[in-house]
Amino acid sequence: MNKDQIVKNIVEIVKEKLSGEGSGHDWWHIYRVWNTAKELGAQEEADMFVVELAALLHDIADWKFHGGDDTVGPKVAREIMEKQQVPEDVIEHVCSIILTMSFKGAHDTTPMKTLEGKIVQDADRLDALGAVGIGRTFAYGGHVGSPMHNPEKKAEQHTTKEAYFAGGRTTINHFYEKLLLLKDRMNTSTAKKVAQERHEYMQGFLDRFYKEWEGQH
Ligand code: ADP
Ligand code: NI
Repeated sequence: MNKDQIVKNIVEIVKEKLSGEGSGHDWWHIYRVWNTAKELGAQEEADMFVVELAALLHDIADWKFHGGDDTVGPKVAREIMEKQQVPEDVIEHVCSIILTMSFKGAHDTTPMKTLEGKIVQDADRLDALGAVGIGRTFAYGGHVGSPMHNPEKKAEQHTTKEAYFAGGRTTINHFYEKLLLLKDRMNTSTAKKVAQERHEYMQGFLDRFYKEWEGQH
């Protein structure tokens, strides 16, 4: 099978598996990350087959929803790629990207080893920022039943990975524990620029949010 056909088949598999997912990892998240990764990759000398497969499969079985077992995602991704006869070296590269990619709290910087990994990580992180990022954050907060905001609570940054995943904070707090930190964690120069713009947009959003909360305009 040629690479284009494999990518097409995997798109169909991922679409089928993730359509209708409500926690921020639906097919359209994958679609945006895939497109952004292709765009970032076009500026670099990256192996685009690896970039596309890793982007498409990176959330196929999110480890947060499997009792914290971060090996489930790579395992499911491997099974899908083996069925499509993806070469073993590509499978290994894609699985290692999936395993190390996700944001695990403010103190765990999860560095990516390869250019392809850096590109896909940037694309995933860009999708947590800007207008779509704000939308996803409130969707996630609703999904897990978090209060939207509590002006009596100061922004918390949690001290450990365990505390980050324990939850119990407000949706607005997520900006301080993750979203506003991401612009300094981008790998590629294109992503750094886009992240800076989206960062400023989110700060503008927060300014308005706090004003409106107090009935000001
Ligand atoms: P990623 O795909 O980058 O690994 P996550 O799985 O951590 O993202 O989260 C999915 C989406 O939900 C992202 O937009 C993320 O910023 C948002 N999110 C994650 N945790 C929270 C939270 N505690 N409150 C609100 N939004 C969250
Ligand atoms: Ni993702």
